[in-house]
Amino acid sequence: MPYCLGLQTAANAFLSIGFATQFTLAIVLSLIIITISSSFQKDPTDAPAPLPGSSLLHIFPFFRRRFDFLNWGFHASGQNIFRFNLLRNSVIVVSGESARETFFTAKGLDLTEGFKILSGAIPMVRGVTSDLQSRRIHLIHKRLANIQRNAPLSDLMPVLLEDSRQHMKTWGSSGKFDPFEKVYELIFQLTIRSLSCKEIADDPALVAKLKRLYDDLDTGTTPATVLLPWLPTPAMIKKLWSTKAIYDIINKAINEREASGAHHNDTLQMLLDAGDEKLVVVGFIMGLLIAGARATGTTASWMLTFLGGHPEWRSKAAAEVEGLLASMPSSSSSSQPLSSRLATIPLDVWETETPVLDAIIKETLRVAQPHTAMRRNIGPDCYIDNKRIPTGAYVIYPFSDVHLDPELYPDPWKFDPARKEDSNVPFSYVGWGGGKTTCLGTRLAKVELKLVTSLFILGFEHSVIEPSTGEPSNPLPTPNWNDILLCRPPQGSFALAYSRTQVPL
Ligand code: HEM
Repeated sequence: MPYCLGLQTAANAFLSIGFATQFTLAIVLSLIIITISSSFQKDPTDAPAPLPGSSLLHIFPFFRRRFDFLNWGFHASGQNIFRFNLLRNSVIVVSGESARETFFTAKGLDLTEGFKILSGAIPMVRGVTSDLQSRRIHLIHKRLANIQRNAPLSDLMPVLLEDSRQHMKTWGSSGKFDPFEKVYELIFQLTIRSLSCKEIADDPALVAKLKRLYDDLDTGTTPATVLLPWLPTPAMIKKLWSTKAIYDIINKAINEREASGAHHNDTLQMLLDAGDEKLVVVGFIMGLLIAGARATGTTASWMLTFLGGHPEWRSKAAAEVEGLLASMPSSSSSSQPLSSRLATIPLDVWETETPVLDAIIKETLRVAQPHTAMRRNIGPDCYIDNKRIPTGAYVIYPFSDVHLDPELYPDPWKFDPARKEDSNVPFSYVGWGGGKTTCLGTRLAKVELKLVTSLFILGFEHSVIEPSTGEPSNPLPTPNWNDILLCRPPQGSFALAYSRTQVPL
């Protein structure tokens, strides 16, 4: 056994030398071992840089403080592409102009697959949400395009205005509110009206219940429910319960409509008339409500907040809408309710003759839409900026990379609808998505935003205040990109003070 003997001799020799030498030797040996073993594990040169810490503790801020986490990741890795692991899933975060271009155009990067695991707002319920394969999703997108054709969207406008009028009347003649509650509630009502049916939209208690259930889904999305969806944590059970309760409400409305033989001019009718299977009808309403209400609610809340803090843009927008009203022959009588007068402005005029409102919407989305686009590479392996994206890996692109880039948007946190984007830079604005994936509800969302804003700024005066003193807010509230749902500043940090104008709603 010469090998064992040799070891014994070496150990004896090691023990017989002094402590300082032992210590130095131990350090040198450890360094050699670390170097040798890490050279065995070395990532291939085309692999994105890993984050320095990859324990779950390091990754938790991805769920809780995403904006800070991603910025830290770029800083800590020193790269514009880095990766980390969410349990067994590899997630690659990309940034920069050429990476953005590939991200939005690469064939294998799939939105639905990426969304499924990384978002986790809707639990996958076997037989309902988990079975919405691509054929059905495609059909849902087709139906969404149908409800946004000229005729149905024009029919919807007076109904949305009437809903908004009734809602705003409940706000009284003056007061103050948090837009992330009151304006969000109004947008939820309009989204239910646009995407579901008369029976639900006409029942304020049912709409409020649905809103609570959707809020539960949002707030119940914890790291555990995303990473370990099969683990029956209290949060997961609550989410499953909420999903089932939403399903029951929608299912009941569908069954009652079918059984009664009643016919209404609404989205549910369009879906039933198209003869789609129940799963598509339920999937359309359940899935799009969450996509539509959240993004539109956030945008409307921020638009009114920005307008309250920038009176010059408020006046410009009000003048634009007054100009349109004045040009409509049938709405000349200002004794008519404002909502009815606004309803006389045709859809194409709202879409093509409101440059001020368009610029305000665009700037609001740039600075206050904290979206992180998520994809999964469904194959084959591809490259972003010479870094390999293996099949099955998740890829994410934070919109802050482009929308808050001071090179493209000087003084990026400033709300300035007059700024122009640099059209020579590819995908320099992605507020409605880009490349392979653009928002399929843009037309509806823009109309909702324009109608609500117009009714509010002509029907009310408003400004941003500090809630405890009632003094004008200084500084104005800043979008909080760590709140991935609403971009909402700390609760209670500001309010909108409003009072009715002479114009009847
Ligand atoms: C202000 C409101 C809205 C904004 C800012 C917005 C923004 C976006 C963005 C940026 C994307 C692309 C996401 C990505 O690349 O990861 C997207 C996709 C999508 N949006 Fe919207 N959205 C809004 C309202 C709506 C509404 C009201 C609906 C439905 C009624 C809707 C339906 C969709 C759908 C179905 C997709 C996925 C498209 C696909 O799979 O190719 N959105 N939206």
